[in-house]
Amino acid sequence: MFWLLLVFGLTAAFNKPPGVSIWCGKAYLPTDKSFAPGGALQKPPASTRPLLNIQVRPRMSLYIPTDVNASFIVESQFSYTHGIAWDYAEAQDDSDLKLEISIEGESLHLHHSVAGGVTSESLQEVPFSLKNLIPRLIPYGVTLTVTRASARWVYNATTLLYYLPARLDGGTTTKVDSLYGGLLVQNITNRTTTWTPLLPYSYYTTLANAPNPQAFINQGYNIIHLVPDATTLTQTFNLTALNTFLNACDQVGLWVMYDMRYTYQNLISVTAQVALLQARKSLLLWYTGDEPDGHGDPLNATSIGYALIKMLDPWHPVSVLLNCYNFYYGNYSAGADIILSDVYPIGVNTTWSVVYNTPCNKTYGRCGCDDCDGVVEDISTRLDRFEKYQTWIGSVPKPLWGVPQAFGKQTFYNRTPTAAEEVTMTMLSLNHNAKGIVMWAWPTTPQISTMTKQLSVVLAHGAVPGFMLGARTVTLKAVGQTEMDVAGWRVGKQMLVSILSLQTPNWTNTVTIQLPAAFTFITQVLWGAGQWNLTNGTLSKVGGVGLDTDLIIVQLAAKNETSTSTRSSAGVGGIEDHHDGGGL
Ligand SMILES: *[C@@H]1O[C@H](CO)[C@@H](O)[C@H](O)[C@H]1NC(C)=O
Ligand SMILES: *[C@@H]1O[C@H](CO)[C@@H](O)[C@H](O)[C@H]1NC(C)=O
Ligand SMILES: *[C@@H]1O[C@H](CO)[C@@H](O)[C@H](O)[C@H]1NC(C)=O
Ligand SMILES: *[C@@H]1O[C@H](CO)[C@@H](O)[C@H](O)[C@H]1NC(C)=O
Ligand SMILES: *[C@@H]1O[C@H](CO)[C@@H](O)[C@H](O)[C@H]1NC(C)=O
Ligand SMILES: *[C@@H]1O[C@H](CO)[C@@H](O)[C@H](O)[C@H]1NC(C)=O
Ligand SMILES: *[C@@H]1O[C@H](CO)[C@@H](O)[C@H](O)[C@H]1NC(C)=O
Ligand SMILES: *[C@@H]1O[C@H](CO)[C@@H](O)[C@H](O)[C@H]1NC(C)=O
Ligand SMILES: *[C@@H]1O[C@H](CO)[C@@H](O)[C@H](O)[C@H]1NC(C)=O
Ligand SMILES: *[C@@H]1O[C@H](CO)[C@@H](O)[C@H](O)[C@H]1NC(C)=O
Ligand SMILES: *[C@@H]1O[C@H](CO)[C@@H](O)[C@H](O)[C@H]1NC(C)=O
Ligand SMILES: *[C@@H]1O[C@H](CO)[C@@H](O)[C@H](O)[C@H]1NC(C)=O
Repeated sequence: MFWLLLVFGLTAAFNKPPGVSIWCGKAYLPTDKSFAPGGALQKPPASTRPLLNIQVRPRMSLYIPTDVNASFIVESQFSYTHGIAWDYAEAQDDSDLKLEISIEGESLHLHHSVAGGVTSESLQEVPFSLKNLIPRLIPYGVTLTVTRASARWVYNATTLLYYLPARLDGGTTTKVDSLYGGLLVQNITNRTTTWTPLLPYSYYTTLANAPNPQAFINQGYNIIHLVPDATTLTQTFNLTALNTFLNACDQVGLWVMYDMRYTYQNLISVTAQVALLQARKSLLLWYTGDEPDGHGDPLNATSIGYALIKMLDPWHPVSVLLNCYNFYYGNYSAGADIILSDVYPIGVNTTWSVVYNTPCNKTYGRCGCDDCDGVVEDISTRLDRFEKYQTWIGSVPKPLWGVPQAFGKQTFYNRTPTAAEEVTMTMLSLNHNAKGIVMWAWPTTPQISTMTKQLSVVLAHGAVPGFMLGARTVTLKAVGQTEMDVAGWRVGKQMLVSILSLQTPNWTNTVTIQLPAAFTFITQVLWGAGQWNLTNGTLSKVGGVGLDTDLIIVQLAAKNETSTSTRSSAGVGGIEDHHDGGGL
């Protein structure tokens, strides 16, 4: 994103001496001195006694009148940082705990048994009926009350429920699933009421560089992120060219991620753009700040834009891209439903700025990858940090998306990733719970685009979205070889397993991976050589190739079935079928 950023420069100045240019709060020009940037989140101080933390939120970001089922997620856990004091001894018996959810005060009450779950780490899904509610544009207030008769003990938690009227303007609606983090959409063409999980896999591009929508969708991509060309005075788009492009997207069913990076702080412009776009069939979601933390945009900027967009168009989620390791994450992320992370570790010098000729460290310098080590693991470290920040600030879990580097040989980056590195960076993001992939930027090298065209068919279609958006991500451990990153998603009797070798040299050791159940056969190899043996829940392989990536589906043997049977269909169940996971 930097070439545009360098042109349009910085806005606010809340943390720095006047006249000093900052990135992620740090001075970076050789003429400026280092100062403490501030804004770093830290793990909140631990309480000496365990606290009971209970959160409630609707399963879906919104419901509409054609929806049959609706539910709340009630999550409880012991925490040392959030919640209310809880006497552990007293908690031995929780038989008199009562849980009650009310929507708008008196209008609707739900009683739900606690089922022994409240006092330990638990996640329950509480179904409710939409029948007694009237669809409206403003959200309903929801209160969860937990009472304890014997101790006259009360715990409250609140959330908002969007039950929206159906659109009458031809526009579409996008849901965010707060259990597994995926997007859910309805088919643009046949206007079905069925919600289908969508795993976005694509690139950022400008109108001038945009691919032909039909050709792009034929290659397997399912969305496109349009970056304003910034050649117009208003820094939005050439409306003639935009309309032509969006007409084609509407027609072929290519979803659009609409970017207001230069204008999101201008509320008049945002209002106009939302009015212009929101009824488009192909509009998937909004995107406001592009690295607002890098630029040091006002801390309230993303939230102000978010509130306006939610008021004008509550049918689509809002996203924000954050670039810094730890700079006012709470304030900038508050203005989004979905947080993107762009960590570019390839061909970068993380200790010496090759652009500004200064050192880079925790308080100074701009090296193109904030507080990075210049290894692909920077990507997973950042996603893990963001997930942690969400819990530190006591926020509901928000889905994270990855922005893998698909460029190089410019500014901070002395080379472009190889095709194998591109696959690794993408899969590493997904292994660490990213629920969408938007690479920077299209067009890219022929090596990368040839590879991502193949990967798009695997990730955006077929069985993969059902697993990655229909189950929680389980981290698995590889034994026998370091620098492996393995994750799985289990739906019913099957598990999708993603196995990455993060080191470049080939290796000869035997690697084993213990799966969480006695899976006995591999039904499908979706990516990679797949030369793994599977016996009684243990995957094994002797030797491997550097940056190998394997994506396979394993299955439990049915009773009396032999492990030699071969099956090719993945048969993933619908997203509503499995609620046994533990959150995002
Ligand atoms: C609603 O939930 C019920 C019970 O879980 C299920 O049988 C039904 O298929 C669901 N309907 C839809 C449209 O998802
Ligand atoms: C929880 O909510 C109930 C009902 O609104 C109220 O009476 C009670 O005072 C609240 N308790 C706490 C601890 O906030
Ligand atoms: C409509 O699209 C959905 C999702 O793509 C598909 O499952 C369904 O079969 C389609 N319905 C018709 C009538 O074509
Ligand atoms: C949407 O429905 C149409 C018509 O049934 C179908 O041709 C198309 O493949 C569906 N699109 C998706 C993304 O499933
Ligand atoms: C806007 O795009 C149209 C169609 O691509 C083109 O003819 C026109 O010159 C463009 N206008 C500007 C101001 O660039
Ligand atoms: C947002 O923050 C700026 C300072 O950065 C302040 O001037 C402005 O009043 C704030 N706006 C709102 C609506 O709070
Ligand atoms: C930034 O976030 C902190 C912590 O939530 C909050 O106290 C502060 O008011 C926020 N600042 C702005 C300008 O929104
Ligand atoms: C970064 O640049 C410094 C100064 O030129 C050099 O000493 C160092 O080896 C470089 N590191 C990498 C990883 O290229
Ligand atoms: C970072 O580098 C600057 C410039 O060399 C130096 O003044 C500052 O003390 C360094 N900060 C840390 C935390 O090392
Ligand atoms: C399979 O593994 C389970 C537990 O990991 C073990 O109890 C069982 O004996 C094993 N079965 C065989 C046939 O090795
Ligand atoms: C799988 O196991 C068989 C039999 O033990 C062995 O011959 C083969 O080399 C193994 N394959 C791999 C890829 O490790
Ligand atoms: C690693 O293994 C692959 C596949 O066997 C081979 O093509 C490649 O040359 C090997 N690389 C090195 C550095 O040995």
